[in-house]
Amino acid sequence: MKIIHISAECYPIAKVGGLADVVGALPKYQSSKKITSEVLIPFYDTAFTQTHTFTTIYKSKLNLGDAVFPYEIKTLDNNTLGFEVFFVDIPQQLFRNYVYSSDDADRFISFQIASLDWLLTWKDKPTIVHCHDHHTGLIPFMMSQSLKYKKLSRISSVLTIHNAQYQGWFSYDKLAYIPEFDMENAGLLDWNHQINSLATGIKCAWRVTTVSPSYMEELKVKANGLESLLRHEHKKCSGILNGIDTDVWNPETDDYIVKNYGPTIVQSGKKANKKYLCDRFNLDIKKPLIVFIGRLVGEKGAELLPVVFDLILQEKHSSILLLGSGNKEIEKELEKLKEKHKGTYNAFIGYDEKLSHIMYAGADFLLMPSRVEPCGLNQMYALRYGTIPVVRNIGGLKDTIIDIDNKGFGIIHQEVSVYAIVYAIKRAESLYKHIQKFKNIRNRIMGINHSWDTSAQAYINLYKTLNTKVS
Ligand code: ADP
Ligand code: GLC
Repeated sequence: MKIIHISAECYPIAKVGGLADVVGALPKYQSSKKITSEVLIPFYDTAFTQTHTFTTIYKSKLNLGDAVFPYEIKTLDNNTLGFEVFFVDIPQQLFRNYVYSSDDADRFISFQIASLDWLLTWKDKPTIVHCHDHHTGLIPFMMSQSLKYKKLSRISSVLTIHNAQYQGWFSYDKLAYIPEFDMENAGLLDWNHQINSLATGIKCAWRVTTVSPSYMEELKVKANGLESLLRHEHKKCSGILNGIDTDVWNPETDDYIVKNYGPTIVQSGKKANKKYLCDRFNLDIKKPLIVFIGRLVGEKGAELLPVVFDLILQEKHSSILLLGSGNKEIEKELEKLKEKHKGTYNAFIGYDEKLSHIMYAGADFLLMPSRVEPCGLNQMYALRYGTIPVVRNIGGLKDTIIDIDNKGFGIIHQEVSVYAIVYAIKRAESLYKHIQKFKNIRNRIMGINHSWDTSAQAYINLYKTLNTKVS
């Protein structure tokens, strides 16, 4: 069995969020199960591409309407990632020092066309083309409908929805970009009078998965306009919970953190990392340290954080540290709080992989008051590093965290409101005072196994069912 994952992100090459973590780990775990699992991503101008060397294995040109773009397929030299990775290098469109921007429709349609043009040249074709999110949602359509890709039409396609909020909409003036197909089937591209890449992928992929079982159910009632489509296609849809890469996210070996620790030396290991954070960010080490790591957007409940933090910090029971970037207004509000709560609050506005690891290691609690959370990886990283998650009961958070009042190991709130989040944090503060109970939970969560091993197998089992298309 030969799988090719096609994605906009892949850790450690290009990462904006959890999509990268998944595409950087799942193929490795699949490869360890004796199947060939490879990745195809755009060639961006990232720290990774600047510091590695590549070999061009194929050169051609692609057509995007009337425009013609030269492109190359590259491989990574001295690859130690644990899976083969191929790059689509379209210098005029993809080679930028960011992943996403306002001209994504042109960029990712080009990427998808170049990917399929190249797959056509493979002698030994893949068994499964596994697409991730809307950036690759047109691939199942083009494979089944475009005359040019007829030779790929019998290859099974799987689409994984990591986040249905973003759908890759574009207007019909770009219809001519898509390689020729029977116009009678143009309806497959349409959702609400626009071309909608994610909807197209859901309609045309042989199977559709979401990154947690609960998210699959939630999408049937709330999917940013795609609810009825997901209900209609339910027979081919299922939820498979993400895992984590336990080689990368391992407090015993993690090179990023200040002191390594395992289940037997939790206390001193976490303390050293907490001390580093408290020294660097001028925080009170005696108080419980509550952290937030993530994109500052509505989905993550981020606009409520400034008010929540202000209320919590006024009572002086906790220290709070935030790492994130996104909405400029929210960033400004979070910056403003620094002066008012000097000594118990700080924020690093930006993206910093190393700091995120130290925060998972050094924190006592991790906050995730998400409105939408298809899976969420942060809470699983927190568990592995002995940091107790305080989360909203939604999506993948619902599937991974059990409340302490239910014999569990986390703190759960139902609503996304200032009141509900503040109350949840107060429960965390109170747990911190019951030091033995707090330590027992911390030790217990480090042993919870969320390795990709199980879910990588679940995907393989799904691929094996794909001899026939579900209609
Ligand atoms: P999402 O993909 O919706 O952003 P996930 O929980 O699946 O959420 O994954 C987020 C990933 O991005 C995690 O690896 C998290 O540590 C990382 N991350 C998010 N924001 C930052 C940041 N500002 N700096 C470093 N890492 C970040
Ligand atoms: C998306 C989701 C997140 C999920 C990640 C990886 O970005 O927002 O919940 O963990 O994809 O699947």
